[in-house]
Amino acid sequence: MTHGADQSAEPTLVFIHGSGDGAQVWEPLKQALQARKPALKLLAVDLPGHGARIADPGPEQVSVRDYAEDVLAEMTRQGVSSAILVGHSLGGAIALTLALEHADAVRGLVIVGSGARLRVLPSILTATLERPDEAALEIVLMGYAPGHEADARAYVASRPPNAPGMFHRDLAACDVYDIMTDLERIQQPALMIVGQQDQMTPPKYAQYLADHLPSAQLRVIPDAGHYVLREQPDAVAVVIGGWLSAL
Ligand code: COA
Repeated sequence: MTHGADQSAEPTLVFIHGSGDGAQVWEPLKQALQARKPALKLLAVDLPGHGARIADPGPEQVSVRDYAEDVLAEMTRQGVSSAILVGHSLGGAIALTLALEHADAVRGLVIVGSGARLRVLPSILTATLERPDEAALEIVLMGYAPGHEADARAYVASRPPNAPGMFHRDLAACDVYDIMTDLERIQQPALMIVGQQDQMTPPKYAQYLADHLPSAQLRVIPDAGHYVLREQPDAVAVVIGGWLSAL
């Protein structure tokens, strides 16, 4: 794949959601970004079995690499030959993997609440398998900073359903993903964003990315946890907007 007609002043931003979520998770951030930069082209994708693709779950087991190929295929379907990838959690792992394996398709990276390795607590893996509905709420509650519980509950209540088993499948893919020693090969400019109170992918993970990616910046957002993109969409939009302007 080569850089094509969309290699313009205002690049396309492709948003990749995290485990158990869907494209809708990005709505507050997309609105905040569009208000600041109306010319930006924003494309939020659903992974197989998620959101609008609930009827198309694909195989029972997938890897982060499989998901990366799926995102690349969706970009191709949408006529996007290269983009800035904005990934949250599992979506960040997918974005980093695409940058490693299809560098021409990636103009830059915005990695939100993610890391180069995403081991998952065994109790979380078990809970998503054995009692998925309760686990979905509990894990989102863990993902919001203290004081944001009402917002966490409202988000879960508004979240479009996914096909059965998706949350567990996503987390199982995270658990075996590990690109800790590959980061030096990623040459694209990268922006790391993490909530200061993120318990799922702590700021240490973002710091590791910032220290090992050749061209990276790190911004830690106060009063936010793992769902920093929904907890502080305006602050995140300001950071992304500033970074885009300086590219
Ligand atoms: N970036 C930088 N450092 C990382 C890292 C990353 N992406 N992933 C792990 N590490 C560090 C750990 O902090 C640890 O450092 P330490 O030895 O200084 O404490 C070391 O590497 C080993 O970590 P890990 O291989 O993950 O094993 P572990 O036994 O320390 O921890 C868990 C396993 C599941 C307990 C841990 O990863 C965790 O608490 N995860 C957060 C909760 C979760 O399930 N999140 C879901 C993510 S999608």
